[in-house]
Amino acid sequence: MVTLLGPSGSGKSTLIRTLNGLEKYQSGTITFNGKKVVPNDKNWQTLRQKIGMVFQSYDLFPNLTVMDNIILGPTKVQKRAKEEVIAQARALLKKVDLLDYEDSYPRQLSGGQKQRIAIVRALALHPEFMLFDEVTASLDPEMVRGVLNIIRDLADQDDMTMIIVTHEMDFAKQVADRVLFLQDGKILEDTPGNQFFDHPQTTRAKEFLESMNF
Ligand SMILES: Nc1ncnc2c1ncn2[C@@H]1O[C@H](COP(=O)(O)OP(=O)(O)O)[C@@H](O)[C@H]1O
Ligand SMILES: [Mg+2]
Repeated sequence: MVTLLGPSGSGKSTLIRTLNGLEKYQSGTITFNGKKVVPNDKNWQTLRQKIGMVFQSYDLFPNLTVMDNIILGPTKVQKRAKEEVIAQARALLKKVDLLDYEDSYPRQLSGGQKQRIAIVRALALHPEFMLFDEVTASLDPEMVRGVLNIIRDLADQDDMTMIIVTHEMDFAKQVADRVLFLQDGKILEDTPGNQFFDHPQTTRAKEFLESMNF
C-alpha cells in the first residue's frame, strides 16, 4: 500500500496516470512485475486489464444499470461468462452493502454509493493493482468513511498492491506501508508509512503535515 502525499499541483495525479499509460513520459522507466514496460498502445491496453483505477469523479455510464456498469468490462473486454461475472458482481455488491441497487441507475445513487460502485467495477476485472486518486475528495463527509472502509478492507487482504492519493491523513497513516511525498513534480521523500507521519525526513513534508493539522 503506497500512499502519494503532497500539496495540490505537486504531480500526484500525473504520476498515477503515468502508471496506467494515460500520461506520456519523457524519461525514466516503468517496471511492472519486474518487467520494463515498453510504452506503446498495445502494451498499455494489455496492462490496463491488470490495473484497476478509481478517480475522484466516478465515471459510471449513466445509461446503464449498476449491474451492467459492473459486468461490461469483464464480459466485453475479458470475454468472461456472464453468469460467472454476475455472481461475482453480486458478491462484491454485498461486501459494499449495495446488493439492493443492482438494477438502479447511477443518477439514483448518492456520491458515496457511486464511488463504492466504481470500486466494485474496478475489482470485477480482477486487477493485480489498484490506483486510487482522491476518491473521497468530492464526497460529503458522512460518505467518506464508508468508501475508506472498503479500501481498508482491500488493504487488509494483503494480495493486492495499491497506490493511493488521498488527503485523509488519519486513513493514510493507518494503511500506508510506504509514503511518497511529492513537491513540484518530484518525489522528495520515500519513507516507510510507520515513520513518515511522526518523523518525516524533509522540512517540506513536516510543513505539509502541519498544514493538514497533523
Ligand atoms: N514530473 C512532472 N514533470 C512535468 N510536469 C509535471 C510533473 N508532475 C506534474 N506536472 C504538472 O504539474 C501540474 C499539476 O500536477 P497534478 O498531477 O495535477 O498535481 P496533483 O494531483 O498533485 O494536484 C500538471 O499541469 C502536470 O502536468
Ligand atoms: Mg490530483
